Amino acid sequence: MKKFTYGTPFETDAVVERVERTEGDPSQFTVERTGDAFVFRRPLSARDRVYGLGEQVRGINKRGWLYDGWNTDDPRITEGRTALYGAHNFIVLTGEETFGVFFDSAGRVVFDVGYEDPDELKITAWNADVYVIEGGSAKEVVHTFRTLIGRSYIPPKWAFGYGQSKWGYKTEEDIRAVVEGYRANGFPLDAVYMDIDYMIHYKDFTVDPERYPDLSALSAELKAEGIYLVPIVDAAIKAEEGYPVYDEGLRNGYFCTDAAGVPYVVGVWPGDSVLPDVLAPEARAWFGAQYRALLDEGIEGFWNDMNEPALFYGKERLQKAIEAVAQTKGNLELDDFNKLTANFGKLANSPEDYRALCHNVNGKRVSHADVHNLYGYNMTRAAAEYFAEYAPDKRFLLFSRSSCIGMHRYGGIWTGDNCSWWSHLLLNVKMMPSLDMCGFLFAGADIGGHADNTTEELLLRWLAFGIFTPLMRNHATNGARDQECYRFKNKDAFRRILGMRYALLPYLYSEYIKCALRGEMLFKPLAFEYPEDARADGVEDQLFFGESLMIAPVCEQNAKGRYVYLPARMKMIRMRAGDDYKVKTLEKGSYYLEVPLDEVVFFLREGKVLPLARPAQNVASLDEEHLAFVKFIDSPVEYEICRDDGSTLSGIEKGLRKITVRP
Ligand code: GLC
Repeated sequence: MKKFTYGTPFETDAVVERVERTEGDPSQFTVERTGDAFVFRRPLSARDRVYGLGEQVRGINKRGWLYDGWNTDDPRITEGRTALYGAHNFIVLTGEETFGVFFDSAGRVVFDVGYEDPDELKITAWNADVYVIEGGSAKEVVHTFRTLIGRSYIPPKWAFGYGQSKWGYKTEEDIRAVVEGYRANGFPLDAVYMDIDYMIHYKDFTVDPERYPDLSALSAELKAEGIYLVPIVDAAIKAEEGYPVYDEGLRNGYFCTDAAGVPYVVGVWPGDSVLPDVLAPEARAWFGAQYRALLDEGIEGFWNDMNEPALFYGKERLQKAIEAVAQTKGNLELDDFNKLTANFGKLANSPEDYRALCHNVNGKRVSHADVHNLYGYNMTRAAAEYFAEYAPDKRFLLFSRSSCIGMHRYGGIWTGDNCSWWSHLLLNVKMMPSLDMCGFLFAGADIGGHADNTTEELLLRWLAFGIFTPLMRNHATNGARDQECYRFKNKDAFRRILGMRYALLPYLYSEYIKCALRGEMLFKPLAFEYPEDARADGVEDQLFFGESLMIAPVCEQNAKGRYVYLPARMKMIRMRAGDDYKVKTLEKGSYYLEVPLDEVVFFLREGKVLPLARPAQNVASLDEEHLAFVKFIDSPVEYEICRDDGSTLSGIEKGLRKITVRP
């Protein structure tokens, strides 16, 4: 591993190992300086594939598009986009040569992976430490990288259960209705999420007393049934005198400012707001300590949102846009009309606001534009660092919308505002291995889709993939069709598929823990396991999942089944329910397999076993004493299972034990 430094990078704390700086440029690239930018170029041969970049659009192999490492809140996720909510600037190139490169930068990094010139990789960065990892296979390069950036976040075990969410649950009664809907149908459930409506006027760390007269009693009552409440926390703080969080932050200089040191006012859900300066250690500690208000109510899980940070407007620019409207006579010709609407259209997440907004870190004023990608990371770190003080050995559920590498040690992510589209189910599949490469093991998409209206078929297929994703949460936006599983007709299919999650949980959990502790990937592209198999190379909709399984989700409307490529002999498991499945050995090759809507088909690798529990109503009631094993072995093998307490940090490693499984 070599480290090269370009410009004067801001310390990101993304890496945990000390690497001495090498002079000169990496041999893999030619490097040019243009203005403040450094441009890294390298020809791509026909054989070269490029993996990584975590949360991004398009395929597992990133060749053929442009990717912008710049955390962006834009809910229209289409394949024409170049930036999503996270900036995960690590790639692995494999082909003529195999190596990994990580651009450790707080600012923008642009990856042109054969976009301008199909045969060239061109990376543009500003101030960055560049780590180059040479030697070994793609899988080994990822492993070395993961060691460099440190252990991935490990949530409590209940967080691997199924969760239901929707922007629109307003009151305690709404939450109870969801729990009742799941319970009445015999559907499992471990968490119900609380979106912004639980707060008083979208003020973080407040709870509306009319909607939730006694959150602590509600949380205790639900926990007794094995169900956790998980509230959202937004990045921005309402600028309102008398709101203690605002007053205290203001008094102590904990908010981001303008260049003159005056708190910078932006608009988010609560209207005029300010941003906690989470890059500054004191402000970060103070912001983290605010979570106590909810922790003291018995809350043990949070999702951090709007932390790119998302800005609806910068106050000054909004004023100018309003003044321009006031000056019109109400009669607009085309150009004037366009100008006026553009004034408003360009208010959100404007580069001018990002440039003008400042952080005040260790006595230095830094423009937000130079450290933009660190915001969500440090908001989440604020919470995690406080949790470690509040209850030092306890694991909390914590995930964030915005992230960059480094944050993977503090929390997981969800992949933001997707849509109820089949293409977004497929995107979810393709993103998982890329996220794993970058350390984000605890991840998941809004199952069923966030915007637009889902259908029974899409939700069933999405759940059939979601049973494998560490974060398994059904979430939708306000105004979208209700998509709790009990809203649909084929209740039996939902019950059986949700039940499979719990049957698979001992495996999913054990694999997760091992991958986190050892810096491995939970989801792997076929080419990572069979690098010499030219056919495996092109497969983008099947994944290896943990050491034993390969999965092949159905991602198309009205599909009766799908083609599957087996790079080796495997045992097909056709699961009708967690305790009802058939197995059949298939030789290496291609198959068309029927996959009815209420079944999940996946594959067990030769020499491997799969532990299965009986389906349960939640993680707490899972019976792990009596596991069944699906086996594809002809001599005894050891399976390493994790049976820790599921809630402490110190218990994790002690929970690992090897079970001998006989044919
Ligand atoms: C953002 C989040 C979404 C949430 C909504 C309201 O769009 O990404 O998940 O439902 O805000 O809080």
